[in-house]
Amino acid sequence: MSLDLQALRDRVQALQQEIQESLQQVKTLDDLEALRIRYLGRKGEVTALLKSIGRLPQEARPAAGAEINRLKQWIQQEIQAARERLEREAQERIDLTLPGRPVEPGRLHPITRVFTEIIEIFKGLGFEVEEGPDVEWDYYNFEALNIPPHHPAREMQSTFFITDKMLLRTHTSPIQIRVMERKKPPLRFVAPGRVYRVDPFDPSHAPAFHQLEGLYVDRRVTFAELKGTLELFLREFFGPDTEIKFLPSYFPFTEPSAEVAIRWKGEWLEVLGCGMVNPNVFRAVGIDPEAWKGYAFGLGVERLAMVRYGIPDIRWFSENDLRFLRGYEP
Ligand code: FA5
Ligand code: MG
Repeated sequence: MSLDLQALRDRVQALQQEIQESLQQVKTLDDLEALRIRYLGRKGEVTALLKSIGRLPQEARPAAGAEINRLKQWIQQEIQAARERLEREAQERIDLTLPGRPVEPGRLHPITRVFTEIIEIFKGLGFEVEEGPDVEWDYYNFEALNIPPHHPAREMQSTFFITDKMLLRTHTSPIQIRVMERKKPPLRFVAPGRVYRVDPFDPSHAPAFHQLEGLYVDRRVTFAELKGTLELFLREFFGPDTEIKFLPSYFPFTEPSAEVAIRWKGEWLEVLGCGMVNPNVFRAVGIDPEAWKGYAFGLGVERLAMVRYGIPDIRWFSENDLRFLRGYEP
């Protein structure tokens, strides 16, 4: 009799082992339901085992019943745990049939687009492209450009100093010096860059903005060529009917110097400075001013973009407002 009870206990243990292994094979809720029916269903193995108690001797039945109930409870707990795990996994699984979230294509900033367009025009006129650092030596930003210490022109281009001798460049003109130190004339290039000034932020001034420098050095270069090139560029960029005005001006690094304004909304807007390279600038870089002549210009890129796209306020360029960034297509 106790042998029969022992046989039942062995059977319970074997079933537990078997179920443990089956549970590991379960991949879906359907698998799990099949497993439940196989063991706990009306014709299941555990159910059959319970029914077999009746064939045991009277005194062995309570122990056998307790044993089988423990097995049954264990199976129910295991099935519940497996169900929760499968349900969680089903939620986490990626549904490949769902439509994707739309990704909006990025765009180039209006300043980048205008730069690209301006540079393409000058490339077409035979200009190369050069660059220089935003953090510049006083020497390149001022001194080599014929602006000695205490020169009043420094006042107009007050900037952010890093040390006594190092600053955020106030214009792209130092790139003229860097390139002329490195390369022998003839030279013909434009140089895009960001520049910095202690200027108030208002609708037409920013403390950081962009310029495009231009320099042409050759044996024979005239002011007429400078004027012709700039007019050609401005009419290419703004259209053939653009009203353009050259005004006498002063820059220490050019002589004579001029400013160019274009008509915008009935007003004249200054968009660039230019002139013939001052002989002192050539001397600073060891180019013989008797043998070489040159013209230079510096364009305000935001100003050009404002006219081109009808942007009323320069501050919009740096506010990162997506409505603005999306709104101005070329
Ligand atoms: C210069 O910076 C000279 N380096 C230009 C130059 C180069 C002259 C080569 C001769 C030869 P100016 O300070 O005027 O010049 O600035 C040039 C252009 O930058 C201006 O015509 C204007 O369009 C733009 N600009 C100047 N200050 C600001 C500002 N605070 N915000 C936006 N644009 C500005
Ligand atoms: Mg000016």
